[in-house]
Amino acid sequence: MRTESDWRAVQEEALQRRARGERVGFVPTMGFLHRGHTSLFALARPRCDWLVASIFVNPLQFGPTEDLGRYPRDPEGDAAKARAEGVDLLFTPTTLYHRDHSTRVIVDQVSDGLCGASRPTHFEGVATVVARLFGVVQPHVAVFGEKDYQQLQLIRRMTRDLALPIEVIGGPLVRDADGLALSSRNAYLSEEQRTRALSLHQALDDMAEAVAAGTRDAADLLEIGRRRIHADRLDYLEIRDATDLRPLNQVDGPARGFVAATYGGTRLIDNRSLSS
Ligand code: PAJ
Repeated sequence: MRTESDWRAVQEEALQRRARGERVGFVPTMGFLHRGHTSLFALARPRCDWLVASIFVNPLQFGPTEDLGRYPRDPEGDAAKARAEGVDLLFTPTTLYHRDHSTRVIVDQVSDGLCGASRPTHFEGVATVVARLFGVVQPHVAVFGEKDYQQLQLIRRMTRDLALPIEVIGGPLVRDADGLALSSRNAYLSEEQRTRALSLHQALDDMAEAVAAGTRDAADLLEIGRRRIHADRLDYLEIRDATDLRPLNQVDGPARGFVAATYGGTRLIDNRSLSS
């Protein structure tokens, strides 16, 4: 595995490999890699000849009061994990944008509500950096995790709307043994906060069980979920269509439960399918 921080060198190599008929795979990340990330590398590996993973803590997607400055980092551990999973090139830009970068990518509808409500410029920052990374890495196939389900649907929509010739693949959400969704931000949690955070996936499980047992009304399902959650602040608990993310009153097709809550200064998200 090679590490490269110069985006021009990455783009040049990608274009050369494509011209030789190689298939380029890509997994973008912000580092501090865990099994959630490495599962995406494993999904991408057999689907390409040349696998690029990026590590870039993208300032555009952080709000002014968020954790950009203290986002956890582990460059050596990250390199070892990426190498072990068969990544060919680890792209670690220090700067990715031109000083006068002026383009913003806004994806309507799928970025409305959920995390888009409490993080107003977040998805604009995500779409903008992913569009630029796609331009640099020139992938045939890119893999994103269902952990950030709204982000995944946003990337699918952007890729479709802009006619980008990229296959976007979603990887299943990876959890710890106790059910907590793996996240780089779990590193911020105290033991007590972590224990209470288990209530997020338990609430979603309770809602899925209730759907399986025949409850269809979203308000009833949300009440079942809310009863379980122990958080310092519940940001949202919602039920939405699994594809276009429109809010649902009834669960009678593909539906997902979404939750976001804070523990101290740490904001966690989780989601799961509610369809039987
Ligand atoms: P980051 O949070 O580092 O996540 C990188 C990728 O790993 C995303 O596609 C995310 O959904 C996936 N991922 C994280 N935790 C996961 C888990 N427990 N199970 C499965 N997949 C998981 O998401 C970002 O970075 C950024 O927004 C990025 C797309 C890189 C743009 O800056």
